[in-house]
Amino acid sequence: MLIFHRVQDLIKALQNLRDHSIGFVPTMGALHEGHLSLIRASKQENDCTVCSIYVNPTQFNNSEDLIKYPRNIEKDCQLLQSENCDILFAPTDAEMYPQGFHAELIKIHFGTIETILEGAYRPGHFQGVGLIISKLFNIIHPTRAYFGLKDLQQCFIIKKLVSDLSYRIELRFCPTVREKDGLAMSSRNALLSDEARQLAPQIYQTLLQVQKALEQGYSTQGAIHFGKHFLLQQKEFQLEYLEIVNFETFEFLESVQKNTKIAICLAAWLKNVRLIDNLVFELR
Ligand code: PAF
Repeated sequence: MLIFHRVQDLIKALQNLRDHSIGFVPTMGALHEGHLSLIRASKQENDCTVCSIYVNPTQFNNSEDLIKYPRNIEKDCQLLQSENCDILFAPTDAEMYPQGFHAELIKIHFGTIETILEGAYRPGHFQGVGLIISKLFNIIHPTRAYFGLKDLQQCFIIKKLVSDLSYRIELRFCPTVREKDGLAMSSRNALLSDEARQLAPQIYQTLLQVQKALEQGYSTQGAIHFGKHFLLQQKEFQLEYLEIVNFETFEFLESVQKNTKIAICLAAWLKNVRLIDNLVFELR
């Protein structure tokens, strides 16, 4: 695996691959099976797979969260090597945001989508994601880019970015990978204490409860109420949101129609760790 830390070195190396397909997997490191499933998907359909590891400061609205974000570049390199990833791009902050770069001057807005759910609780987050992904797309010019559906709203934002800015990139959104007990894989899981780790699968259980309630004919409000009650039986959780949205448009749903893809989205703090998850399904 070739490793690059500088933009210009990566660009030079990719110039030799112009006639080849390039699959791109952007990450913030602390890699887990979810990331590795994206690498595998990319390896299957591209000549060359590039993974980036960069903890992007412009998408953190909370400086403590940025400092705490798990980092383990050595283990990440080993995992990528074992998946035969071709190129790792691991830039420094100075490389991505050099002196004189004014992130606040380049603001990419996504409309109301950035004011709900994650957007409401992490103001500026999606603008930071849009900025870094645009920069990485411009550096790498991938044929295809791979994202995990665990960050469902991020997938929607990236789709909008590619469409609004006319990127000629095929997007692939891959299923959430879960631990045996249902907990969605996330780099942040590494921050959970043993006790919190035991409780964390309740998040997925809550999503399943809401799904069950909808299938039993509960209204959306009724199902949400039921789900909140279920999760908050455990005093350690602090719920930020539990909502039911249309999977295609991300609009909140007053009621759920049959044969419409819906997503139940949840964000909660478990002690001092923020976890998100979602469940996508169609009512039959
Ligand atoms: O999902 C992530 O890890 C990040 O938001 C991404 C897409 C790598 C941008 O920094």
